[in-house]
Amino acid sequence: MLVDEAYHHFVQDPSYAESLPYVLEGRNVIITRTFSKIYGIAAMRLGYAIAKPELIDRMRPHSTGSVNALVKWGGAAALKDKEAEAWVLNKTVELREKMVAGVKSMGFDVLPSNTNFFMMHTVRPSSEFRSAFRERGVAVGRDFPPMLDWLRVSVGNEEENERFMQALKEIA
Ligand SMILES: Cc1ncc(COP(=O)(O)O)c(C=O)c1O
Repeated sequence: MLVDEAYHHFVQDPSYAESLPYVLEGRNVIITRTFSKIYGIAAMRLGYAIAKPELIDRMRPHSTGSVNALVKWGGAAALKDKEAEAWVLNKTVELREKMVAGVKSMGFDVLPSNTNFFMMHTVRPSSEFRSAFRERGVAVGRDFPPMLDWLRVSVGNEEENERFMQALKEIA
């Protein structure tokens, strides 16, 4: 089993449990984590897997195993910078909740989120919203079949979020 823990660092739901104990128990579980989210270095293409050694050895031939040196140092620095990690978490949650409140006040349903994005119910096909946002210079998430009437919205900085809210008011 593969468990994608891309958003692991954002989770605040007390009922959440990470999957590390399954790996430590020796089960056939692979956990993947990425530096693209809480560490904000998506373009660097850096992540890692946690699994028992036999599974890692079986996967190794399928990887180039090569990471750019600058990226490697950036990843190591990110892991050590707990202050930055806490700042990103708090700021993301604060901005996300502000956006979610705004979107809900306009009558849209929003799924509970423990990530740096939220899913809003567009009722109509979300592709219509996507095009309308694009015309206004706002990029939102792609389709996530089968949820074709839900739109994935990533939390940006304050100015970007305001542009999103303004565009949504015009579209809705
Ligand atoms: C669930 C999930 N896993 C992984 C990723 C991407 O990670 P990476 O940038 O390391 O490919 C994303 C990005 O949107 C994601 O939503």
